[in-house]
Amino acid sequence: MTPESALHWKALSRLASARQDGSHSEHELKPLTLDAAGLHADLTKQQLDEEVLTALIGLAEELDLPAAIDAQFSGAHINQSENRPALHTALRAPVEDTPDMAREAASTLAQILDLADAVRRGAWRGAAGDAITDVVHIGIGGSHLGPELAVEALTSADSGGPRIHFVANIDGAALRSALSGLNPERTLFVIVSKSFSTLETRVNAQSARAWFLERMGSLEAIARHFVAISTNLTAAAEFGIPQANVYPMWDWVGGRYSVWSPVGIPLAMAIGRQGFRDFLAGARALDEHFRAAPFSENLPVLMALAGIWNYNFLGVTNQAILPYAERLRLLPDFLQQLIMESNGKSVHQDGTDVSVHTMPIVWGGTGTNGQHAYHQLLHQGTRSFAADFIILANGAEPAEHHRWLNANALAQSQAMLLGQDAEDPHKRVRGGKPTTTLVLPALTPGALGALIALYEQIVFCQGVIWDINSFDQWGVELGKRLAVPIFEQLGDTPSKASPLLQDASTRGLIEHLTRSRD
Ligand code: F6P
Repeated sequence: MTPESALHWKALSRLASARQDGSHSEHELKPLTLDAAGLHADLTKQQLDEEVLTALIGLAEELDLPAAIDAQFSGAHINQSENRPALHTALRAPVEDTPDMAREAASTLAQILDLADAVRRGAWRGAAGDAITDVVHIGIGGSHLGPELAVEALTSADSGGPRIHFVANIDGAALRSALSGLNPERTLFVIVSKSFSTLETRVNAQSARAWFLERMGSLEAIARHFVAISTNLTAAAEFGIPQANVYPMWDWVGGRYSVWSPVGIPLAMAIGRQGFRDFLAGARALDEHFRAAPFSENLPVLMALAGIWNYNFLGVTNQAILPYAERLRLLPDFLQQLIMESNGKSVHQDGTDVSVHTMPIVWGGTGTNGQHAYHQLLHQGTRSFAADFIILANGAEPAEHHRWLNANALAQSQAMLLGQDAEDPHKRVRGGKPTTTLVLPALTPGALGALIALYEQIVFCQGVIWDINSFDQWGVELGKRLAVPIFEQLGDTPSKASPLLQDASTRGLIEHLTRSRD
């Protein structure tokens, strides 16, 4: 069933109109808070009242969300356009509970943790007999954003692991800066690519290999300095990585859902076996809550429904992610891929056009920095937005800094809610902006695992309500294809005829770049 044909969708449209035309009086603010998997959530500042909440929950039931949740966890082929399950939850489920295919994941996890342990203890030796001090992770998108977020969030001075460097962009500056000052004898490269065919990763990995061979001189040394994570074991072998160093990925785990898989290996290297297991356990606790809690007390479901109300009925055109935690600096980048690559779709599962809006733009940045940059527009601009504040009950020392940090987070969401009346129109702040505040007890592996799993399940619920496929990403293919002839035309000896095949703008830019080259 499409969302707009549901009876509850029509009811929600009426409720939204009544609120917009003033025929419904302002709702009184009643606390709406929830605790799940160690996270505390305050949705009180959303524009939800009992009537709206009841209709939203009715919508989720009418659109069969309960059955869809069962289908997700049971391994049904919910990624219909690619005819696959989306079973990242099995990577963090208790083994006795997982479908067969995830048993392999459990044994791979054990190998990954052993490798991480060996690197951390100095038992893994480089070709010249040295322990590893630096790990260079090469991957992009889902093979990069989750691991980098988790490593940055959870590593501290006493974590005891090697230094981890990330290279994603094909811009040579990224690789150059990661390699600068590294000793190849003490460096381990981790090449992460589900497909092992992604341009950026392929080119960066080849350049890293050339850098390494130039300094070490022997092909055999590769076996002690390169490991790979991929579903494409053949391509990894062709690259020269011995089979023993290639860890599998599976087509039933989407790239942006893969931090729980061997893709998360830099996190295991950075924080160790127990830390990685705690990270998985946090996500598992969130999944268990998601499967068991009634919708009226179900955190992912309620946050997803608040989003539906905002985006589809209140005209909210973008979603801000505002972590008030420096070490969650990369959370907005990670969530941009998770949410926008999953739910930036305009056809239903059966290929027919959607006729309601799906996910709006997701963006964000850390507080308090953002307060001195874009919050002016949030308070007084003309566009409507929704925001998630993510804060920590216990943060970095000194305590005074942390208290100011949280005071500012609370003050911002309060200002967004209440606004301010003033005689001077320049000083008026309208308020009434829908925000949610998520409180993590502290930035621990378990809390981060629960937070990431929470957003994964919000994405899932919204995808079900919009009846779109949250697990494919066909839209990214066109640009990849178009880059191939342009690359050729930007070369030293482009075939004379080919630029003519381009549109006028692209042709002009190719000619300009060619003329401007030093
Ligand atoms: O181009 C998008 C994408 O396919 C993402 O979905 C994926 O996470 C990323 O590229 C990297 O893909 P791979 O792990 O196959 O290199």
